[in-house]
Amino acid sequence: MGASASTTRQRILLDCDPGHDDAAAMVVAAHYGDLVGVTTVGGNAPLADVTTNALLTAQIFGIDVDVHPGCDRPLVAEPLNAPEVHGVSGFAGPSLPTLERTASTVGAIEYIIETIRAEDGLWLVPTGPLTNIAMVIRRAPDVVDRVAGISFMGGSAEGGNRTAAAEFNALVDPEAVKVVVDCGARIVMSGLDLTRQFVVDDRLADDLAALGSTGALVFADLIRAYLDKAEERGLPRRGGLHDPCAVLAVTHPEAIERTARPVDVELGGRLTRGMTVVDRRPPANAAGRSSTDRRDANVEHCHTLDHDRCRQLFLDAVAALGSAS
Ligand code: RIB
Ligand code: CA
Repeated sequence: MGASASTTRQRILLDCDPGHDDAAAMVVAAHYGDLVGVTTVGGNAPLADVTTNALLTAQIFGIDVDVHPGCDRPLVAEPLNAPEVHGVSGFAGPSLPTLERTASTVGAIEYIIETIRAEDGLWLVPTGPLTNIAMVIRRAPDVVDRVAGISFMGGSAEGGNRTAAAEFNALVDPEAVKVVVDCGARIVMSGLDLTRQFVVDDRLADDLAALGSTGALVFADLIRAYLDKAEERGLPRRGGLHDPCAVLAVTHPEAIERTARPVDVELGGRLTRGMTVVDRRPPANAAGRSSTDRRDANVEHCHTLDHDRCRQLFLDAVAALGSAS
């Protein structure tokens, strides 16, 4: 009898700010990984709303996981939300069921530290502003050597979305980005230059609706509302399904190509605050690095996505979990 294929399921702790694409990340993580816990951070909507949305996602898709609320504001900056993108609640669009779950009384920072210390080799997957993760690193630096890595959605190598230079998650808390990219852990970055390749459009909404389950129809309505808001702002009915990329980079690394690069973040620029600077120049030798701005590669910069594979993986995860409620 031949050896069975080794299907190692990665153990994942998801830190998020639902938003529909965070919900997509949760479903993908639950289906293809071992989702050990979910924490929330103020971002797309205020903390209370994104926590409700995370609980609703777990309820709708039958995901047995606790949700731990975290920081409701960035390390230094004033809070920033995205009602023009996701609605005031963060979950504009579908009619949603009555919430039957409650958040944990254990806060996100304490939960993340305790969970990482109890089990080496977890993947931290943040898909919102990095405030919670930065707080964890500052309060418990030992976590850097205990995690398998930090795979985050945020930043960009080619222009922003909330500003011309900065991607939303990075702009909300640039100081937190700096703590994370400098911490010394294995860092995997899914920025807009990658995540825009995971196309979200009316065709994806239609394919989700065709699955017919409660969960699939919720995703279809979330996406259509997201596209309607884009159209209201004079933008195309097309975007990136950003957050599941950070999960797929862990569960299906063969579907997302990456290159080790030096990455830093602008904290002071009037026009460029929150901009992630991905140095894609050919790496110089010691002589070529003597007096320049060069630094060692500190991030695995994800740059090429197998779109058809990732899109199907998402649809398959929704098909598998979408009938739970
Ligand atoms: O810029 C895209 C990111 O900002 C995604 O994580 C989305 O959910 C929002 O948080
Ligand atoms: Ca997000």
